[in-house]
Amino acid sequence: MEQGYDPVNEANERLHNALSQLKEARQIQKVFMGLGKELSFGSSQEEFLQIIVDAVEALFPQTHYLVQLADPKSLVPTAMEHRGPLRNGVTNKIHISRSAVVKTRLDPSIAQSACIEVSQEVPNLFEGVAHAIHVPLVAENQLFGAIHLGGSEKTPLADDDELLLISMANQMALALRNQRLLEETAFLKDYLESILEYANALIIVTNRNRQILVYNRAMENLLGFPKNQTLGTDLFMWVPQEEQERFATELSRTIGESPSPAGLETRMRTREGEQVHIVFHLAALKDREDEVESVILIGQDITQIRALEFQIIEAEKMASLGKLAAGVVHELNNPLTSISVYAEFLVSKLGTGRTDPSDVEKTEKILKGAKRIQKLTRDLVSYGKPSSEEPEPLQINDLVAQGLSFCEHTIGKHDVCVNVDLNKELPLLNGNRTQLLQLIINLVTNACQAMAGGGELNLSTKTQEQNTLLLTVSDTGTGIPERDLERIFEPFYTTKTDGEGTGLGLSIVSRIVEHHRGKIDVESTPGEGTVFRIQLPFITSQPDEIPAEGAEKKAVKEEG
Ligand SMILES: Nc1ncnc2c1ncn2[C@@H]1O[C@H](COP(=O)(O)OP(=O)(O)OP(=O)(O)O)[C@@H](O)[C@H]1O
Ligand SMILES: [Mg+2]
Repeated sequence: MEQGYDPVNEANERLHNALSQLKEARQIQKVFMGLGKELSFGSSQEEFLQIIVDAVEALFPQTHYLVQLADPKSLVPTAMEHRGPLRNGVTNKIHISRSAVVKTRLDPSIAQSACIEVSQEVPNLFEGVAHAIHVPLVAENQLFGAIHLGGSEKTPLADDDELLLISMANQMALALRNQRLLEETAFLKDYLESILEYANALIIVTNRNRQILVYNRAMENLLGFPKNQTLGTDLFMWVPQEEQERFATELSRTIGESPSPAGLETRMRTREGEQVHIVFHLAALKDREDEVESVILIGQDITQIRALEFQIIEAEKMASLGKLAAGVVHELNNPLTSISVYAEFLVSKLGTGRTDPSDVEKTEKILKGAKRIQKLTRDLVSYGKPSSEEPEPLQINDLVAQGLSFCEHTIGKHDVCVNVDLNKELPLLNGNRTQLLQLIINLVTNACQAMAGGGELNLSTKTQEQNTLLLTVSDTGTGIPERDLERIFEPFYTTKTDGEGTGLGLSIVSRIVEHHRGKIDVESTPGEGTVFRIQLPFITSQPDEIPAEGAEKKAVKEEG
């Protein structure tokens, strides 16, 4: 047995070593567990720095250290903390060795940055230190800073210190990266919200159940209802009842991912009760599972455009009123002639005191003529009045009859034979009386002008699918060559060279059809004739919602 060998002593020493290694392992475990708890997404740069410093101090209690954080975009150092004497000027830059750049897969061009110093050797940033190690804080090829350790002779760095530093630094770099992502996401969210909020367009976002999620400032300014009253409410609370059906169709079409390219024109009421016209374009917004989550409505206030169009139509009405007046004077002539002839005859007869039964017939002719004049003048006066923007329930057949009576002179002048096939008991439509009269007058006038040598003019009305009325105006006139068909609705397009036309007639007609949410189409065969078909939606609501009685009275009045 060798002198001095004491097995008990050696066992004790090994036990002591094992115990201190265990203690060290426990300490490391504790620090790492603590790191996980302390890293929260909301932490600031300073808080992050402090967490790193605390961990470095707990893991390497005797060593010098320098912890630097940098902005990953500009690479400018933003925060630092150190223990032990530093060499002069080392904190202005982030120092990394070339091999660390390679190992962490940083872009080599990083060496060109004025804020980064890449050295061949491991940089030693401490005064009087023999041994240094360092680890850059890198995640997803982005540099967030670096940790440097320096060991003196009294407190040398252990072999596995570098490994320990690397695993800690990796964890911290990932946390910094997540923090950065979160900040970017929050920034983008704020950015997007302010774009929506301050955009010069009307913006509403709703979920699939029509609940309003976004209601921007332009909407608030236009309608006058503040955000706190509208957010979270059903969109239909703010849409007039008569617009809701179309709105619902467009919303479900958008959720089914086929919105109409033309957009949705609708009316809404302001807080003051005024009506505004808005055209909304709808688009579906999807979540991460590619499911439609919400619908964005981007709108434009077209109230002024509609008001101007209304004025143009009114102006055109006044112009055609002037043209009609000439015809009407002619129309008045015939009944007035019979009135005066019969009246003069009766007066002379009454003077002699002799009357016979045929005089009743003559008096009836006088009455009939007078009534006709009354009706024409009354219709003309009502047509000439400024029309209201508010639509009213109307019977299309009455409008056809009235429009034809206005055009009697034109019809007679062109030797045109009129056939009318009006389907009885048609539902009412919600419309503007004078505008629809204007539509009929313009179409009838065009038809007559196309039949210079006489012909047949046919007008018919009936209902058809999709709750619409169909008004057909056809003639046996010149017809329209195919190449001209697409131009006839353009303003000022006319083939009438003798000053007979301004080319506004059909453009006004198509505007009026659009106002009534209808459709117009035309078919024509040169040499045979032309057919215009106009579809207009009729009123489908419950009878008690529309003033049916009032509408009936009006119809009776017009006939009288
Ligand atoms: N029924 C029709 N038959 C043949 N051509 C037609 C018919 N209706 C319209 N057109 C053609 O379309 C053109 C445009 O018609 P529109 O009513 O817009 O203008 P216009 O009749 O020429 O002038 P305005 O109506 O302003 O007096 C006409 O000039 C004509 O060539
Ligand atoms: Mg015309």
